[in-house]
Amino acid sequence: MDTIEAIRKRKSVRKFLKRPVEKQMLVRVLDAARWSPSGANCQPWKVEVVSGRTKENITRAILEAKAKNFTEPPDMDYYPEVWKNPYKERRFKCGLALYSALGIDRGDTDARRKAWLRNYEFFGAPTGIFLFVPRALGTGFLVDMGIFIQSLVLACTNEGLATCIQASLAEYPSIVKQILGVSDQFRLVCGISVGFEDESAPVNQFRTTRIEVDDFVGWHN
Ligand SMILES: Cc1cc2nc3c(=O)[nH]c(=O)nc-3n(C[C@H](O)[C@H](O)[C@H](O)COP(=O)(O)O)c2cc1C
Repeated sequence: MDTIEAIRKRKSVRKFLKRPVEKQMLVRVLDAARWSPSGANCQPWKVEVVSGRTKENITRAILEAKAKNFTEPPDMDYYPEVWKNPYKERRFKCGLALYSALGIDRGDTDARRKAWLRNYEFFGAPTGIFLFVPRALGTGFLVDMGIFIQSLVLACTNEGLATCIQASLAEYPSIVKQILGVSDQFRLVCGISVGFEDESAPVNQFRTTRIEVDDFVGWHN
């Protein structure tokens, strides 16, 4: 697949088919993603792939924590405490499009909460990928991880695999690390649901928009 085509074709999928993902496909995707650039070629990514019983254990443990209103500090502050424009507005628009695709009224907080909890079930995807970076390397290396993540999801697109990158899957770093046997010397950055898109699902029909090039670029001669 052409690079530009893959960039434009990738989208977040929030309902997957049960069809399992062959290990060989994931190996090919990871084999491509490892060629991502990183500062001083440190390649700071640590990847844990989950499916089957392990994925179910993670879902169960997170949902139990949620049910008990248990919270823990994430390894990185991804979202601001106070949202300001233009980000506040963009986030609102994105949420509105998502919940209207799901047929959920904005005021229906119960239905919204239930839909959000699907995050922790990997939206029904058979595979989840958790991404970690060593804490000792500092926040600069999160740039490397971002590049790696984009390579990974584009390689998935090339394989015909759908993805959803999820900060929500990093809300409980200690739970995920304990189940996967990952040391706290690593930061949990995010999780990614991977599988085959349920093309008939209404939630997968909507596409997000983007601001124009002129709205975010300054040209300097
Ligand atoms: C770092 C990151 C974290 C995200 N976390 C979530 C999440 O927890 N749940 C979710 O449904 N989508 C999540 N998304 C998906 C975004 O909402 C989505 O990428 C954005 O709305 C653009 O839409 P698109 O991916 O379909 O192009 C996340 C995306 C990124 C890059």
